[in-house]
Amino acid sequence: MENIIKRITEKGFLVSSNLKINEKDLDDFLKYLLSLENKPFIVSNDTYNDFLKSKQKEYVIIKKHEKRPEIPTKVKLRKIYNHTNKKIDINDWVAYYYDRFNKISNILKNRDELRSATTISRVKKINGRQQVALIGMIKDIRKTFTGTTIFELEDPTGFLKVIVKGDEAVKKVDELVLDEVIGVIGTKSKDVVYADKIIFPDIPERPIKKAKEEVYAAFISDTHVGSNMFLAKEFSHFIKWLKGEIGTPQQREIAKKVRYLFVIGDLVDGIGVYPNQEKELSIHDIYRQYEEFSKYFVDIPEDINIIVIPGNHDALRLAEPQHVLFQDIAEPVYKINNVIMASNPAVINIHNIDDFPGFDVLLYHGMSFDNLVSNVPFLRKYGYERADLIMEFLLKKRHLAPSHGSTLINPMAQDFLVIDKPVDIFASGHIHYTKLGRYKNVLTIGTGCFQEKTPFQEKLGHNPTPGRVPIVNLKSFQARIMKFR
Ligand SMILES: [Fe+2]
Ligand SMILES: [Fe+2]
Repeated sequence: MENIIKRITEKGFLVSSNLKINEKDLDDFLKYLLSLENKPFIVSNDTYNDFLKSKQKEYVIIKKHEKRPEIPTKVKLRKIYNHTNKKIDINDWVAYYYDRFNKISNILKNRDELRSATTISRVKKINGRQQVALIGMIKDIRKTFTGTTIFELEDPTGFLKVIVKGDEAVKKVDELVLDEVIGVIGTKSKDVVYADKIIFPDIPERPIKKAKEEVYAAFISDTHVGSNMFLAKEFSHFIKWLKGEIGTPQQREIAKKVRYLFVIGDLVDGIGVYPNQEKELSIHDIYRQYEEFSKYFVDIPEDINIIVIPGNHDALRLAEPQHVLFQDIAEPVYKINNVIMASNPAVINIHNIDDFPGFDVLLYHGMSFDNLVSNVPFLRKYGYERADLIMEFLLKKRHLAPSHGSTLINPMAQDFLVIDKPVDIFASGHIHYTKLGRYKNVLTIGTGCFQEKTPFQEKLGHNPTPGRVPIVNLKSFQARIMKFR
């Protein structure tokens, strides 16, 4: 009790001699006291009872699961990476970049201004000044001391120097990244092109779809089970809410209609992911970490489709695309009711019922986000708190990791990270900061996490938002954030 009195008095309150409180409630009680508009002069048992009543309002505990309505569901795996154990050589990289160039240049050729785009070798043969349209991959961007941006453009026929000149093109220089495929409209003169316009492949405006019935999808990621900063209480609150055991009547009504749960990587903290990680682990065995994760899902309603993809903390190679979680290591996860395993990235179609086409959901854990936030001037100014802008940026580039160095890549004949088809929802994790957005009617979802701020994040000055879960009502196509902390 001494410690309790000390903690309360430290916040500037006097404590009544009759005060008896449960130590488990202390943190929440302090938050409650500080949030009160009319703060008590003396904290007494009455104050504590008021706090307990306010808590009850928030979480009504019910004894039995209420009956869940029957809602039809469907999950289709649209784009999944199947693991191949092939040895990689230089030809794989060549094929990989050819594929990226071809896929994105085909998207760009659909743009009116680029229909007549020509190859770099042809542009080089032009004598005198001439207006040109071309498509290429960016190499070696640099700024001159006068502030002019110059980059090298490459296509399968050669290289060409581009000097950014026109106002419209200059506006986009802060968004340019190495290795992305873009369109350029400009004037060829001597052996350079002066760019008036830079064109990103981008996505077309997406028609808004709405499901016939009220049904919800929830998005979580980054539970980091096994870390000593995993927020067990908050995570079990979320699971209890899903089971319909806690929440206001309105919140429990929503829980009854959740039929899709996306888990977007970093289920566990892993082992040896970064130097000295062992000091920050509460579970030192990878099998036990997955076992612990799965325990939370005991008795989860069987009608919820749980779609799981891996992240960089999960037990498999880091290079992307990442295949599904290994069955032997993550066996307890495979045993959760209705689990569907997918790769990172993946495209999943949900709720394709009768004549309704369903929603295409692009899932990507988000490993390239770190690199983008530190290297792209346009994104750097917002830091980790604008997942919506990072996702918008990637939709414009039609690629999940446009620069070679932005994530570790496993090169294949196909560049799996190209966003080849537009989607309805794009959801990512990794940066532990919840943010919703919309870009051309695509709903962008940055999930949160269930891990307390780590010393590493503290060093970066990053403030994560643990315990928050984005929920999408598929009937209205509106998203909201539920807080479990
Ligand atoms: Fe994470
Ligand atoms: Fe991550």
